[in-house]
Amino acid sequence: MEIEKIWEGIQTKDCDNVLKYDDLCSNVSYLKMYGKANYEQNKETFEKLKKIMNNEKPAIFSFGCGIGLDSVGAKEIFGNHVVYFPIDEYKWAICETKQYKDFEPKLPRKFIKYDESIWLLQMTQNVPVICFFHSLYSIKKEKDVKKDLLKVLKGKNKFYFVCNFTINNHYGPTLNERDYIDSLIEELSQTFTIKKFDIINNRGIIMHGSKCK
Ligand SMILES: C[S@@+](CC[C@H](N)C(=O)[O-])C[C@H]1O[C@@H](n2cnc3c(N)ncnc32)[C@H](O)[C@@H]1O
Repeated sequence: MEIEKIWEGIQTKDCDNVLKYDDLCSNVSYLKMYGKANYEQNKETFEKLKKIMNNEKPAIFSFGCGIGLDSVGAKEIFGNHVVYFPIDEYKWAICETKQYKDFEPKLPRKFIKYDESIWLLQMTQNVPVICFFHSLYSIKKEKDVKKDLLKVLKGKNKFYFVCNFTINNHYGPTLNERDYIDSLIEELSQTFTIKKFDIINNRGIIMHGSKCK
């Protein structure tokens, strides 16, 4: 995938290392720094998930998907018809550019807001795969993710939870995410048998929950 094509020809001045979703320069700066690496890491995680899931068909809920580059990895690993929901509260400026719209493979054009995605998660009949790729830190600052997940997952027999930790200081320290997930696991353990699979080099976690008999 030639990721550089997403920002080809876009004039940008130097901008801060702070991700501002509505600022094209800041979008490009983030993507140049992390786009390819995150895409590759997220794809590797899907590869690992596929082995764990055997032949189960996932419904991927990608919380904080950004411009949805992980959808490319999801299709490469699970096939073109994989169920994938691109969830993001903020539309990135780059998604309005011709470069983004013309990009091949196709990237998501419509994004789902957080609250709607919680409703969709409740409704899905497929095995939900709840993904936070470098996004849990940002989302939990605004939303009570733990409360929402505990409420929705009560109605499920099984689920997968996948998190690739936020990597760097500009976009949020990792430690917060680990503690948050540990406390989520503790609460989920009252209803589910939880199996944890660490992602290579301790960069994230895959968790499987199945309802206690
Ligand atoms: C650091 S970016 C990660 C982007 C991408 N997943 C990756 O792996 O590179 C964090 C994302 O979380 C999104 N976000 C922040 N608050 C959110 C919220 N309340 N609900 C959904 N997404 C949110 C941001 O818009 C941003 O796209």
